Amino acid sequence: MTYTTLRVSITARIATVTVNRPDKLNALNTQCKSELKELFINLRTNPDVDVVILTGAGEKAFVAGTDIAELTTLNAESGKEFAEGGQSVFDLIQHLGKPVIAAINGFALGGGLELALACHIRIASENAKFGQPEVNLGIIPGYGGTQRLPRIVGIGKATEMTLTGNPITAQEALRIGLVCAVVPQGNLLSTAESIAKTILSKGQLAIRMSLKAINISMEMPLSEGLKVEAALFGECCSTEDFKEGTTAFLQKRKPEFKGR
Ligand code: COA
Repeated sequence: MTYTTLRVSITARIATVTVNRPDKLNALNTQCKSELKELFINLRTNPDVDVVILTGAGEKAFVAGTDIAELTTLNAESGKEFAEGGQSVFDLIQHLGKPVIAAINGFALGGGLELALACHIRIASENAKFGQPEVNLGIIPGYGGTQRLPRIVGIGKATEMTLTGNPITAQEALRIGLVCAVVPQGNLLSTAESIAKTILSKGQLAIRMSLKAINISMEMPLSEGLKVEAALFGECCSTEDFKEGTTAFLQKRKPEFKGR
């Protein structure tokens, strides 16, 4: 597969995906969204990939939003379709079934923040800035920002960010739990790779079931989510990885998981 707006490399079970429009601060245009969709559909079933790292080209931006030049002709009907189209790409990422780590290397604004919110783990470089500036354009976040941001940082901070459009720094993002680490720009990808390698050292069935259970917590009341968690826990108990993990612990050795 060749892409014009993405760079993709796959090494040691980790796919690194770079949104590659640095002259437009990696703003998501239609081409880019459709390439992300095609790529993530492929990654979902790609047997060579167990973890994905998503980042932006250059040192200035992760993704500075949806491409504003493409917004100008939208009307009520096409605007709704536009939002649904972007949401479908980001849903695909959230429900990939494999961990996606956002390595946020600069501006994550509007659709860029929403893209990061659809990822499972977010880390940032010290220069990163986060915001939902859509109100400056007379619109609201349309790719999941009004739904995922409050679930991740709490309704108070999400409301403040969405109504003011004011960006926050990487340190503030760390403080409110939007990202789980802030590192120097030069260490960002190696930190993401180190998290990916830690995940890869675990039983991959348990990783996938953990993701499934956590995703469900976004959508179900606690009592229903607990039922799903118990069912998935039971499924884990029938796997070879479970036998290997518990046996290895008792034998005081490292487990050798097979993903079965
Ligand atoms: N859509 C389309 N183009 C964008 C863009 C976006 N979301 N964000 C940046 N760009 C383009 C700029 O138009 C400019 O293109 P040009 O060189 O052809 O004029 C280029 O990227 C560089 O951006 P510029 O504004 O010159 O950089 P800056 O350092 O002065 O400012 C930002 C950086 C991020 C503060 C500013 O670009 C910005 O506010 N972007 C829009 C953010 C936004 O509202 N996102 C939500 C959209 S729903």
